Amino acid sequence: MHYYIGIDVGTSATKAIVVSQTGDILSSASYEYPLYQPENGWAEQEPSDWANAALQALKDAVENSKADPEDIKGIGFSGQMHGLVMVDEDKKPLGRSIIWCDQRTGKQKDVISKKAGDERVLSVTGNRTNTSFTAAKILWVKENQPEFWEKCRWIMLPKDYVRLVLTGEIYTDVSDASGTQLMDVKNRCWSKEIVEALEIGMEKLPPIRESCEACGHISPEVSMITGLSVNTIVAAGAADNATAALGSRTFKEGDVFTTIGTSGVMFAHSKEYQADPKGRVHTLCAAVPGEYALMGVTQAAGLSLHWFRDEFCQDLVKEEKAGGRNSYAVLDEMASKVPIGANRLVYLPYLNGERTPCFDENCRGTFVGLTAAHGRAEEVRAIMEGVAYSLKNSEDIFHDIHVDPKVMYLCGGGSSSPFWRQMFADVFNCECRILSCTEGGSLGAAVLGACAAGDFSSVEEACEALVPSEAKTILPDPSRHKEYLRTYEVYNKIYPALKGCYEELQKV
Ligand code: XUL
Repeated sequence: MHYYIGIDVGTSATKAIVVSQTGDILSSASYEYPLYQPENGWAEQEPSDWANAALQALKDAVENSKADPEDIKGIGFSGQMHGLVMVDEDKKPLGRSIIWCDQRTGKQKDVISKKAGDERVLSVTGNRTNTSFTAAKILWVKENQPEFWEKCRWIMLPKDYVRLVLTGEIYTDVSDASGTQLMDVKNRCWSKEIVEALEIGMEKLPPIRESCEACGHISPEVSMITGLSVNTIVAAGAADNATAALGSRTFKEGDVFTTIGTSGVMFAHSKEYQADPKGRVHTLCAAVPGEYALMGVTQAAGLSLHWFRDEFCQDLVKEEKAGGRNSYAVLDEMASKVPIGANRLVYLPYLNGERTPCFDENCRGTFVGLTAAHGRAEEVRAIMEGVAYSLKNSEDIFHDIHVDPKVMYLCGGGSSSPFWRQMFADVFNCECRILSCTEGGSLGAAVLGACAAGDFSSVEEACEALVPSEAKTILPDPSRHKEYLRTYEVYNKIYPALKGCYEELQKV
């Protein structure tokens, strides 16, 4: 029997799973690390934290799997997107990484528009000029940390840095490179035109591989630390949303899934390259060779509920720690007792600015309609509804560009809430499905490891073998859908009304 490992380099933790050729998950281990937010709108992590967590998780997962390391044939990655990692000539990281949700780069976004031109950026990179992708972060470093920029030999993405630690090799993959704003996404290569316009230097960019291609072997040092064999092949891997697609069997034309993780994502697989002419959703290379994806992003989905629980529900967190009920299950129950519309309370989940639909780094989380009669239950319900409305904005854009989901797979931590997933089915008015296996991104990463090892002839074939198909179905209720639409109409009017205030507030 052959085995594969999927490593998911996430925002809160790095996880490793060992999965067999027939899709049985033998073991799993994960290690957490901090997120640094030294200023309003900033978000940074230590590349060494990701690497150490990956090494620990690998060691535990390999040991607990009881698999013979020689039978572990391939390793794949799933990585948080857009984060900037710079390494020097000795392949050592230069400072902390500015990660995906950081919003300090408003000025640099304008520089990109000026130097490369908004229309060219959208048509070449498949994505509108924005503050989240790596290019704006690079320009920020050039301007504000010239001492790092001078020493920067390679520009990398989070999972690519972890792969470097495991193999000593420098590469990136098509799906993650699509999130840099430096790539010609349609042609799956770096765009000389954009890179030169931004004066970044083509020589600093790693070679690009398809996600399922082999990019080296486990180094002897890492073999000593983790127990892995030096014969184990390491794949390029993919962006976390592209691996979540594989882990939710989203690899056919028109397949769509929604993730309710820290961020929220609606992702549609597409055989051909297509982009929203208004740039309201991203266009990316998929982890399936030669294929593409469209993706809408809510910056703070699960994060909104997590924030509310940590700031205002510490009593529930303490009860949970003392052996009581899961705090999120208590929040679900509270919210379920409040009617649709949260008693006329609306929440915009813009804690980290927003991408789809408005692409505005200045907007902020907002409650509209608060009264003294509202309590935590209404607030939690409004937060859950606000996140669902925000992802419905992505769904509406998909319809606009003729991507019409028939079934929506749900994944990510938020989808484990029966109350929230029913809300998604009702808000979208679409049949939703939850796969029985919730490993998502790490399983998708293992699929890529299995392909790189040469055990399957295509990504689709590896998915069929490794990702179980059993799913639970959640049907929408048309009358509840109608009720949600009444609040959704109001929700859609709030951002345009407040846009100017958010801008002014940033200047205070
Ligand atoms: C996608 C994005 C997030 C991160 C989260 O564009 O920024 O989904 O990948 O890890």
